[in-house]
Amino acid sequence: MRIAISTGGGDAPGLNAVIRAVVLSAVHRGWECVAIRRGFGSLLGESELMPLGPQEVRGITHLGGTILGTSNRGNPLKWRVQRPDGTWEERDRTQELLDSFRAHRLDAMVAIGGEGTLGIVLHLWKRGLPIVGVPKTIDNDVAGTVTTLGFDSAVSTATDAIDKLHSTAESHERVMVVEVMGRCAGFIALNSGIAGSADVILIPEIPFDIDKVCDKIRRREAEGRHFSMVVVAEGAVPKGGTVSLIDPAHERLGGVAEKVAHSIEQMTGKETRSLVLGHLQRGGGPTTFDRMLALRFGAAAVRLVAERQFGRMVALQPPSIVAVSLEEALATPRRVALDSDSIASARDLGISFGD
Ligand code: F6P
Repeated sequence: MRIAISTGGGDAPGLNAVIRAVVLSAVHRGWECVAIRRGFGSLLGESELMPLGPQEVRGITHLGGTILGTSNRGNPLKWRVQRPDGTWEERDRTQELLDSFRAHRLDAMVAIGGEGTLGIVLHLWKRGLPIVGVPKTIDNDVAGTVTTLGFDSAVSTATDAIDKLHSTAESHERVMVVEVMGRCAGFIALNSGIAGSADVILIPEIPFDIDKVCDKIRRREAEGRHFSMVVVAEGAVPKGGTVSLIDPAHERLGGVAEKVAHSIEQMTGKETRSLVLGHLQRGGGPTTFDRMLALRFGAAAVRLVAERQFGRMVALQPPSIVAVSLEEALATPRRVALDSDSIASARDLGISFGD
């Protein structure tokens, strides 16, 4: 067997650990591994395939990023090509990719990615490619698995930042508004906000009313708590409003913290500062939880290849790693359930969702 590995979409802590687990598990079976560089780039003539053996994956379990490189602009179904006049068009390069896969004498592929990449995996499997997926994204927005790879590390980074901001907020008696990633899902904000003792958490699943946010800050003020911590997900929306975009052409979210901070300062008179944690949440090495998940996901993905269970992804359904159909996992994106115990517990702890 000759199997290919690729990492697509935004990077996340734990990718290198998956790569190592896939390579070692494949080599253990006497198989050969090759890397597809930058998403699916090497199968579309961007660069050479890279042989991957035990030597290439030595000592990378704890390292952030991906040794294969990645891209969230490399969708083979919508490949952007510049016309001679400078304008852009999108081309479907699926057939080219399938031909290249066969020409390179590959038997199977393990693709590690988030919702977008897993959608491409499903498409390629339907077109006959023997492929399995590994769910990775700090956003945790893929269904079928209790958690995606990278989420725990991102939450840990965000919690650490909130902890650090608390002391400066208290010293200056200010309101701090921290913007975290997550796209249209509020998992990072919810988990880091609860763990970091935030006073207000704003998530996309619960449209917020800025009056209610300010009420909470004023109540704290009346109780002698002269500082407040607000954690806002980048995809949070005010009631009746729209999501904040910094790059509408590419639907890049951002800027909501600054808007919320401005309103809080205007409405409460409290000195307020905002900051965006941004790509810090995707950087650095994986937590112990994510390392374990990555190594278990990688080894399980190779077992799926051995059993020829293609068109599926590995998933954590404690206590086991199981195989779930990609079609089912991608049918509905995962969002914070409003009836979850995390939401109820946050409310019991006095946290406001601005609703
Ligand atoms: O999907 C992962 C993610 O980090 C999102 O949380 C965020 O909105 C987006 O990617 C940022 O993408 P980029 O790396 O293109 O700025």
